[in-house]
Amino acid sequence: LTLEVQANDSGRLIPETLFGIFFEEINHAGAGGLWAELISNRGFEAGGKNTPSDIDPWYAKGDENDVILSTEPTSLFKRNPIALRISTLCGSNSKPCPADGVGVVNPGYWGINVRVGKFYTVTFWLRSDTSVNLLVKFISEDETRTLGHQILQVDKVNSSTWHKYTLRLEAKDTDHRGKLAFTTTNQGSIWLDQVSAFPEETYKGHGFRAELAQMLEDLKPAFIRFPGGCYVEGVRLENAWRWRDTVGPWEERPGHLNDVWNYWSDDGLGYYEFLQLTEDLGAAPVWVFNNGISHEYSVNPRLIQPWVKDVLDGIEFARAPKSTQWGALRAAMGHPDPFPLYHIAIGNEDCWKPWYQENYMAFYSAIKAAYPDIKLISNCDATNGPLSHPADFYDFHIYTNAYNLYSMAHQFDQKSRVDRPKVFVSEYAVTGGDAGTGSLLAAVAEAAFMIGLEINSDVVEMASYAPLFVHANDRRWNPDAIVFNSWQQYGTPSYWVQQLFKHSSGARLLPFSLVLPWGSNPVMSVLRRHDEHLNADFLVIKAVNFGNDVVPMRITFDGLAAEGIDYANSTMATLTSAWTMDENSFAQPTKITPQISQMAKPTSDLQVVLPAH
Ligand code: AHR
Repeated sequence: LTLEVQANDSGRLIPETLFGIFFEEINHAGAGGLWAELISNRGFEAGGKNTPSDIDPWYAKGDENDVILSTEPTSLFKRNPIALRISTLCGSNSKPCPADGVGVVNPGYWGINVRVGKFYTVTFWLRSDTSVNLLVKFISEDETRTLGHQILQVDKVNSSTWHKYTLRLEAKDTDHRGKLAFTTTNQGSIWLDQVSAFPEETYKGHGFRAELAQMLEDLKPAFIRFPGGCYVEGVRLENAWRWRDTVGPWEERPGHLNDVWNYWSDDGLGYYEFLQLTEDLGAAPVWVFNNGISHEYSVNPRLIQPWVKDVLDGIEFARAPKSTQWGALRAAMGHPDPFPLYHIAIGNEDCWKPWYQENYMAFYSAIKAAYPDIKLISNCDATNGPLSHPADFYDFHIYTNAYNLYSMAHQFDQKSRVDRPKVFVSEYAVTGGDAGTGSLLAAVAEAAFMIGLEINSDVVEMASYAPLFVHANDRRWNPDAIVFNSWQQYGTPSYWVQQLFKHSSGARLLPFSLVLPWGSNPVMSVLRRHDEHLNADFLVIKAVNFGNDVVPMRITFDGLAAEGIDYANSTMATLTSAWTMDENSFAQPTKITPQISQMAKPTSDLQVVLPAH
């Protein structure tokens, strides 16, 4: 195979927005994942507003003769009314409590990662009808070890109304599956509400789990599409993600049931935090809003105006000066400057649901009238013809087997270049038997598809793999780019493919010609990019060999020397493995990662060998 690269200034610039990421609250991606909150069901609201209510995963420490947990609608916070009452029956002279006390325990999201030497901020609201010594402590999974603690002396007189406490706990021991416990040996009742624990170190100090956010930073995402996916829609409309309920002080957010993926979300990771994440990662925000459609229900066009107003308020929250109502809330939350929100999707996968197309124009017209610079994304597919409504982009979602996705490197070759909305491939992945929980085969096919997107980036301006995260204890959807538990994480081969494309957005796509031997069919692209630190250009040549045979390859350059690019120091990153169904795992997190090698110093041409797959 001979690749002849035109290494000059010709070619076409790839949009700055091409490769981003799609964050959905699925698989506990945020709750128990990227959002570093360690307490699950922190406000005791997950069991519903009626009492008695279920407080899972909280449970009593001590037997029922010593302690009773009950729920009461006596919270300080109107929108999340449930508080926990801990009634301690032991603690008298005749009936002392067990030495390590009784009370309540939260195991976090399948364990709390408590690490020796680290500090944690534990915040909670408390009231009491008695004077008690309360032990706030991290304990080991088997509850035999105290990992870090503080004693709180709660005085009856001053604590008869709700008080907020913030403690700084230092861990003196480690358990990756630790728990947080509140215990006492004194008789009486205390009420607990809105309990939060965070590691002191979070990504850029903004509450994101540092190691997971770093994995996102390493992808250099051009944008973040958020917060879903089906998560935006909800099965029932009452459970849809509504931005308004996710902003303001965390204690006052009601939280909601993520009924699509079947878990409670405290909404600590809310609209503001998503916007903050985009800023922290240098990525453009792409907000998907609920347009009055859930999986089961659609709002009638005659009733859609409040939903339109809701979205305009949401844009005001992100974009407007702090002198406005919603801009003021954003400023009060810590961000006086507006966020650069220029891309918004009108719903998710709703095109053929009742009233979508009828309601679409109400949203479109109102947003464009107020914010003409916002690009709007339709859920309706314009691959084969114009849409019945105006749009800047249309969503294209594809989950399929490896061979299909590999073939779809040519999906957009024939797409009309005129008069159509641009394509946003906002969800794609190999799924099913070819993918397992993250196979090499899936990654190789995705790489071919992504090269096709680069080549067609005159019409495809944005693309994001899906889903991004999976908690190993809650695999709702396979495969995913990043796998984690309470203390570990690794990228699937698909994640590493995403990393290999981190130079693409904003690069120049160079023309090239290929001489192919019979039987080989690699998919390739050549980019040229400026490195601001080195103040020099570099080339990125990508090649996907989907076949079972090695492909020897010779690369020639036309005009390279004249352009001052020195390819004597070129490196090669190869992503492959012995078996196509090989995966990474916690035991072997880097089994399949790009292997970097120095290329042999070339005489005139570069010689490389593409391994099978
Ligand atoms: O990415 C998983 C799901 O796939 C998304 O929620 C939805 O948009 C699509 O059907």
